[in-house]
Amino acid sequence: MLVLGIETSCDETAAAVVRDGREIVSSIISSQIDLHKAYGGVVPELASREHLDKIVPVIEEALERASVELEELDGIAVTAGPGLVGSLLVGVSYAKAMAFALSKPLVGVNHIEGHIYSVVFDNPPVEYPALALVVSGGHTNLFLVPEPGKYRVVSRTRDDAAGEAFDKVAKMLGLGYPGGPVIERLAREGDSRAVRFAVPRMGDGRPDFSFSGLKTAVSKHIRESGLVPVAAGAQPAQEVKDLAASFQSVVVRSLVGTMERLAEEHRPATLIVAGGVACNGALREASREAAVRLGIPVYFPSPHLSTDNAAMIAAAGTVKLMAGERAGLDLNADVTLRLQNIEVEDEALRRSRVRYRL
Ligand code: KG4
Ligand code: ZN
Repeated sequence: MLVLGIETSCDETAAAVVRDGREIVSSIISSQIDLHKAYGGVVPELASREHLDKIVPVIEEALERASVELEELDGIAVTAGPGLVGSLLVGVSYAKAMAFALSKPLVGVNHIEGHIYSVVFDNPPVEYPALALVVSGGHTNLFLVPEPGKYRVVSRTRDDAAGEAFDKVAKMLGLGYPGGPVIERLAREGDSRAVRFAVPRMGDGRPDFSFSGLKTAVSKHIRESGLVPVAAGAQPAQEVKDLAASFQSVVVRSLVGTMERLAEEHRPATLIVAGGVACNGALREASREAAVRLGIPVYFPSPHLSTDNAAMIAAAGTVKLMAGERAGLDLNADVTLRLQNIEVEDEALRRSRVRYRL
């Protein structure tokens, strides 16, 4: 089964051809990082215009590299949400037009579900139930996945996503965008015990995340210690490296500590760590250590599949297509599309879900 995946939810225009949901035949990613760098973050209006420019050449290249003719495709899978509305609409409209013109089956894929499916490549088959930590620029959640396609949110961030915290701290330190990779690089030369930040904990005891207080603590530390942000092209001072290491260490402890606590409670057969922040070496190492303690295998996507790509969308879409799911031409972009299809009995969790939408 050959499926074309299309992903345009944020600042990457991506297309991929995937065979039988597990083999990447081609994967093309056109990143807009350079376009948004000057603004220190993604500018939605610029992103959607760039997607419009790139969608045709990116899809053509994916088909060409795969040596696949349009007629050979068995289906089209497109990210329908969550994400930026103008960006999502480019992919969704294009996918619908292709499906209509070629009379091919179409499915909409939740971007977060796509991230979870990014581990089907380069890993042994996932055993269920799985516990999946999805940690990116827009999301920080733990999902209990009892079987493929069934999700229950067991932890969420109450404010910023972890990747967003990396990006904001990097901006405060004059390190540019995106922040994750540069903070990780500097942290390798820093002392993670130099600045003591507390692991954020919820007053109500729930296993949720919060990163905005940490961001404020970093900003306060910068102000009080008189640390000067790194000027363009300058070498970062040791204090900056120490701060990067201390910040990264507390984020990793928060993520892995919560994952471990929930793994002890739910005893999954597999741990999954996915999303852009899953590129982070310190997070991988701490997750591996936790997995050894728990006696459960942990799967990560290859680094190039951790950040946004269309292969993961095609993989998730293949499972849906094989289950007979079809989207109509009324498929629409859904900015706040949620990934939870298991009813939650827990009243406190239900209330917090209303307040903190996925
Ligand atoms: O999954 P992704 O490409 O886009 C979203 O769906 O958000 O994730 C991008 C995020 C950014 O916030 C970026 O700073 C973070 O992933 N990131 C990292 C690393 N590489 C990317 N965070 C920490 N360490 C990294 N090495
Ligand atoms: Zn993503």
